[in-house]
Amino acid sequence: MARAQSSSQTSYETGTAEGPLDIINLYDLEAKAREVIPKGAFGYIRGGSGDEWTLKENTRAFDDRQILPRYLAGFDAPNTEIEILGSKLDVPLFVPPMAAHGLAHVTAERGSAKGAGDAGALFCAQTLANVPLEDIAKANPGPKWFQLYFMEDQGVNRELIQRAKAAGCTAIVFTVDLEWPDNREADERNNFVFPESLTFPSIPNAPVGASLADLGDIFKKDLSFADIEFIARESGLPVVVKGLLTPDNARECVARGAAAIQVSNHGGRQLDTVPAAITALPGIVEAVDPDVPVLLDSGPRRGVHVFQALALGARAVGVGRPTLYSLALGGAPGVQSMFETLKEEFQLAMKLAGCASIQDITRRYVT
Ligand SMILES: Cc1cc2nc3c(=O)[nH]c(=O)nc-3n(C[C@H](O)[C@H](O)[C@H](O)COP(=O)(O)O)c2cc1C
Repeated sequence: MARAQSSSQTSYETGTAEGPLDIINLYDLEAKAREVIPKGAFGYIRGGSGDEWTLKENTRAFDDRQILPRYLAGFDAPNTEIEILGSKLDVPLFVPPMAAHGLAHVTAERGSAKGAGDAGALFCAQTLANVPLEDIAKANPGPKWFQLYFMEDQGVNRELIQRAKAAGCTAIVFTVDLEWPDNREADERNNFVFPESLTFPSIPNAPVGASLADLGDIFKKDLSFADIEFIARESGLPVVVKGLLTPDNARECVARGAAAIQVSNHGGRQLDTVPAAITALPGIVEAVDPDVPVLLDSGPRRGVHVFQALALGARAVGVGRPTLYSLALGGAPGVQSMFETLKEEFQLAMKLAGCASIQDITRRYVT
């Protein structure tokens, strides 16, 4: 894979708008965001790897199943509250970890963390954030987790884990599918590098003005199950293993200390042609003990997608790119309104399918 040339960009201009969004659904966001996010950054956010087969399949695969409603269920207002690994949420939705929210808006992760929290969704702070972890935690009024890209330097891993814990993060999300970034051709075409003005304060030795491949050089390349044990021991917090797609792999991770599994293919940005997350979900749910929460990200855009994922056993559903698009278009209130749009669709799906609470959404409701 060719690496982007380092550029000498000194300033980077992106969204400053603040306010709720005028959208009918989440699909409306991409075209609007394209107009406000600089080309290279937009390509980085939107793009997938290779032929983008998995990227497209992630949303398409929801069409493989249909919802089976149960009428006359006798309620009028569904309850969408859940608790997952001790985090109480108003909706079973979360922001999965995404690098560099500063590409989308001047408030960076402060805006997205506040918007998600104000909507009652969980926020996952990331290793590759453009503002310090403590600032993200301060901006976020709700529960939060921390995603770790495991570094070669164990000292940095230890420090990140301790900082996350001190900042109030209550679980560590261990991403296992990006030891090497896959080929994302939009980034090659656009010669994309993270702008020099957007730094990664959580990583002391992060290269400046670098491509993802350059940044990836500081990630540990020989990740193993022992790393789950290390994170669990160091943090004393539940470890969520993110990026799994097969039942045997999920079982192995749980046996080595994972408290939860996040079914994900990195939004179609890593190994192309792997299955959609929603396709992989049922096998993983079946493989692990019912006490082990399974989450899903990669592809959901509709309330009915959230409903389907929950019916197939996911406890909560992550929404990636729409968060960055809505951040670009409206800062924290933009993100909040995106989540509210999705929540309204999801509540309507619950009402029409006949589910009064999250616990009611079972396998019975999908083909
Ligand atoms: C711009 C961007 C940056 C990402 N950066 C990270 C990251 O730093 N760590 C990580 O675990 N996943 C990362 N991901 C993957 C997301 O956590 C998530 O799996 C994916 O976005 C979900 O798919 P969706 O965007 O289709 O909803 C990134 C995704 C995007 C779009």
